[in-house]
Amino acid sequence: MSEATTTTVADAVADALARVDLDALRRTYRDQSEFVYLERWLPAPLVARMVAEVERVRPAINRNYIPRHKKGGSVSFHTLVEQAPTILALYRAPAFIAFLESVTGARLQPCPPSDPHACALYFYTEPGDHIGFHFDTSYYRGARYTVLVGIVERSSSRLVCQLHKRDPARRPVELALATHPGTFILFNGDTLWHAITPLGENEERVSLTLEYVTDPSMHPVKRLFSNLKDAVAYFGFRAVFRRAARA
Ligand SMILES: [Fe+2]
Repeated sequence: MSEATTTTVADAVADALARVDLDALRRTYRDQSEFVYLERWLPAPLVARMVAEVERVRPAINRNYIPRHKKGGSVSFHTLVEQAPTILALYRAPAFIAFLESVTGARLQPCPPSDPHACALYFYTEPGDHIGFHFDTSYYRGARYTVLVGIVERSSSRLVCQLHKRDPARRPVELALATHPGTFILFNGDTLWHAITPLGENEERVSLTLEYVTDPSMHPVKRLFSNLKDAVAYFGFRAVFRRAARA
């Protein structure tokens, strides 16, 4: 990763952070059972660089279809690490990680480089592409937090979130969000029940997810289960198991 890219991303993050009321964001995050979003938050020049990287990695999309659960395409961390320096610089930016720690109250680090989900792009490009309700369950020994960034939004699809799903003391609240370019969403994967509604004709939606963990270790049985799920549902067997063998 070039020093110029790292500096550009660090400047963009500083610019975004200057526009945030951190105390208010922390409160909202807690009040919403570990979920928060900032609409069109990341600066446009940074988003433009990420859109260019989305176009560059398009030939590497792996499409999957699991009846009644998901249909769509993905590009894994392994491809992004080679072809998407801006996205990688954002994923690893120390000021960005410190900001996430400050909002969540957890000590965070990027996922191990063997994890294809560490940071990944999700492409909704064909009518009906969607993902059903799920948690971003952590197979790590610690908690896992998801950052979702809107990159391309030319769709009627919505990110539907049910807040307080695991808090019996609170009434569930449902949000349906468009993920416009630069929109930032942060949540604890084990607490937010969420889905993406089906894409319409001639629409497109591309989102980026960045995953952070409190403890990067994983029980070997959970590692195998996690690899199988990634191979079937996201990135393909060759990509997942060849990389896992190398790791
Ligand atoms: Fe998810």
